[in-house]
Amino acid sequence: MSVARIRGAAHALPRRVVTNDELSNLMDTSDEWIRTRTGIRERHVSSGEDTSDLATQVAQQLLTASNLTGEALDFIIVATMTPDSAMPSTAARVQAAIGAAHAFAYDLTAACSGFVFALSQADKLITSGRYERGLVIGAEVLSKVIDWRDRTTAVLFGDGAGGVLLEADDTATTPFILAEKLQTDGSRGECLTSSKSLVQNPFVKFDKSENAQANRIQMDGRAVFDFAVRDVPKNIAETLMLSDLTAEEIDYFLLHQANSRLLDTIAKKLETPREKFLQNLEHYGNTSAASIPILLSEAIKNGKIKGDTSQKVVFTGFGGGLTWGTLVCQI
Ligand code: ACO
Repeated sequence: MSVARIRGAAHALPRRVVTNDELSNLMDTSDEWIRTRTGIRERHVSSGEDTSDLATQVAQQLLTASNLTGEALDFIIVATMTPDSAMPSTAARVQAAIGAAHAFAYDLTAACSGFVFALSQADKLITSGRYERGLVIGAEVLSKVIDWRDRTTAVLFGDGAGGVLLEADDTATTPFILAEKLQTDGSRGECLTSSKSLVQNPFVKFDKSENAQANRIQMDGRAVFDFAVRDVPKNIAETLMLSDLTAEEIDYFLLHQANSRLLDTIAKKLETPREKFLQNLEHYGNTSAASIPILLSEAIKNGKIKGDTSQKVVFTGFGGGLTWGTLVCQI
């Protein structure tokens, strides 16, 4: 049986770093408020790079590190809620940029759960035996959809991209994904919205200012916080049960990087040492679908994750939709 394996991970960030102090020149906020409520100190913000530019940088790094060309790929999935355009997809732009002539490519939208959902799909493509190799990338330029006048959301987000090269391993004896549980509750979707496109045509009246506002991220912070501390640890615990593993047997938990207080609470609820929950949100803010692959890429670079199939790692995404989900992986 073909088993999927992560052959490499990479990430790319816009060069421009914006500190909390810089934000306090733009809006009524402070470094102290942002740090104590979220853990965030700085974030990278696009100076013009769009989502496909960052995703292409990740794709090129992955190919170079594995000594491959784009022609070796069978598929490219880009998880994003900030595509350059609805059509062509961000993934199609990446496919063209790296000359992946034999790859089909598409975007997947599941907000901050996007990378986890995409990794699960890519695993199925490979274990089907039909496809051998593909890229799974999470990429966002959230600065396009932030309401820069709204201090309650503008301080939280950042831009970036990360991804993995996934490849079939015909000799593997253990699966890549040991257990998974992906969830959605659209009935709670209105607590976190962005890029709503209102119907505009010659036959309906529309208000331009209403349209501009609908395009921006709007969040009920308390409702999202409650969702994240109730549903997410439950989902992780249930997925661990499915894998027949305990939290102690997991080497690292790589959770979506929204807020350090959320990570503290989730770790406590799972009665698991906080050190096992890797964190880099202080430097990047919340990069939505990009946050987990950036964290993974850094963890492989700094040697915490060896990538030799000897470790067990939990990936958990959660965010707009509402969407959330966990993969327990042998990595
Ligand atoms: N700077 C200064 N003051 C602020 C700021 C800011 N950036 N933002 C809000 N405030 C003020 C509010 O206006 C309010 O003032 P008031 O009491 O005079 O009305 C006060 O701070 C408290 O506001 P709350 O919204 O109650 O602040 P809270 O302590 O709940 O923290 C936060 C807000 C950090 C967003 C919290 O609700 C949270 O962590 N929510 C989880 C949501 C999250 O992380 N979302 C990220 C995107 S979603 C995702 O990735 C899953």
